[in-house]
Amino acid sequence: MELKQELSKYRDLVDKELDQYLTKEECPEQILNEAMEYSLMAGGKRIRPVLMIKVYQIFKGEIEKVMPFACAIEMIHNFSLIHDDLPGIDNDDFRHGKLTNHKRYNEATAILAGDGLLNLAYETMTKELLNSNDIENQNNKIKAINEITTATQRMIAGEYVDTEYEGKAISSDYLEYMHKNKTGALFRASARVGAMLANAKEEDLEKITKFAETIGLTFQIKDDLLSAIGDEKVLGKPVGNDEEKGKSTYVTKYGLEKAQKMLEKLTKEAVEIAETYEEKGEFLKELAIYIKIRNK
Ligand code: IPE
Ligand code: IPE
Ligand code: MG
Ligand code: MG
Repeated sequence: MELKQELSKYRDLVDKELDQYLTKEECPEQILNEAMEYSLMAGGKRIRPVLMIKVYQIFKGEIEKVMPFACAIEMIHNFSLIHDDLPGIDNDDFRHGKLTNHKRYNEATAILAGDGLLNLAYETMTKELLNSNDIENQNNKIKAINEITTATQRMIAGEYVDTEYEGKAISSDYLEYMHKNKTGALFRASARVGAMLANAKEEDLEKITKFAETIGLTFQIKDDLLSAIGDEKVLGKPVGNDEEKGKSTYVTKYGLEKAQKMLEKLTKEAVEIAETYEEKGEFLKELAIYIKIRNK
């Protein structure tokens, strides 16, 4: 299996599906709709929805059922990015190599575009529940919505801790807590929803949860490393300003070398879990490694 090809195949699938949920007609709030589209379709990697789909596929074949939930998690992720970039949070001007939402439009529009994407996620999931006649899976879908709701609350809590500890010393426990929530929670929910919708056994759900919690943390540690020493052109977002802003990250707390070591140790743990699924776990294994070595 070629990971890059597989990622790009499923990213395209998610992109196509996401596009269908956007409102494109002329209307008084047309610019707000454009602002939602601007960020949602800006070139994100789609890691969370792809994780959901690929976990689902470990246990079941056709992926139609999982797609509305995969799109919903990506909408919520993009809401989090628009708000994360706002002057009141990270005050960043670039993402995906383009102006951030509030720079391209204005602050009011960016706040509302974020709100709009968050709500579109719930609209997408509840519509799926109402409109499908797949009675057999109704309960799993309700569980999936609840999982995503809780994870979003955790993500928001993590973002709060991030802002609270700007310019202050953070303990290692709180730093881990912050990363597990601000980033880990959506990874965890993506994987768990994939497993739940596929009716995975409790034992599998637990294993998948542990895997996702681990890569959620490695993803943010790597984000911290890239924010310190990445290539701004490849990354499409600012490099080198965490220290200036007094941000609490694995790099500002532990230094580059130790952060890298922690990333490697955790990646190994994730790979070991994926390997228990042998061939079926191949994508997850490759994904854990990709998260460690990615340059964007
Ligand atoms: C960036 O996430 C924010 C973090 C949670 C670290 P991604 O790197 O997944 O963002 P996109 O969607 O691919 O740009
Ligand atoms: C990522 O925050 C977490 C969320 C957006 C919820 P960061 O501030 O660390 O991520 P980037 O580097 O701006 O993408
Ligand atoms: Mg931030
Ligand atoms: Mg940020």
